[in-house]
Amino acid sequence: MKKLIYSLFVVAVFLASCKNNTTSSTEATDSSSAVTEEVSAVVDNVAQITINGDDKMKFDTDEIKVKAGQMVKLTLVHVGKLPKEAMGHNWVLLKAGVDLSGFAADAMKAKESDYIPTSKEVDVIAHTKLIGGGESTTIEFEAPAPGTYEFLCSFPGHSGMMKGHFIVE
Ligand code: CO
Repeated sequence: MKKLIYSLFVVAVFLASCKNNTTSSTEATDSSSAVTEEVSAVVDNVAQITINGDDKMKFDTDEIKVKAGQMVKLTLVHVGKLPKEAMGHNWVLLKAGVDLSGFAADAMKAKESDYIPTSKEVDVIAHTKLIGGGESTTIEFEAPAPGTYEFLCSFPGHSGMMKGHFIVE
């Protein structure tokens, strides 16, 4: 009889400890999954964009889509070999309604500021620096209000080929 009581006691202790373990591990799982969700939500809210420019004066895309409220992390890669003095590329996003060819004409005269005309900075939502072959550069900015915007490379003579639409949905 004593042995049976002892066995029941052991079982009870075992069950109790199991229950405790289960409870605490569940809590740990809950809190860690909450943290995970929070991190992935932040990651989801960043649009990671890569755009390549080459020695043939071309971007590899003429349309970029992001969602309103997203942070945009945009990397421009110059996949060519020519130096930036000969085949420089940048990525410039213009505010809605800004005339792209007018902007490019002013940019052409702005060599000292890497073809971002200081008088027209008000027309720019975001831009990368100017890079040459083998280089890359990354910028981060908040997506503007929903709509369709234009982007270009403002290096002299490039915007005819190197341009596209940036769409915020
Ligand atoms: Co260019």
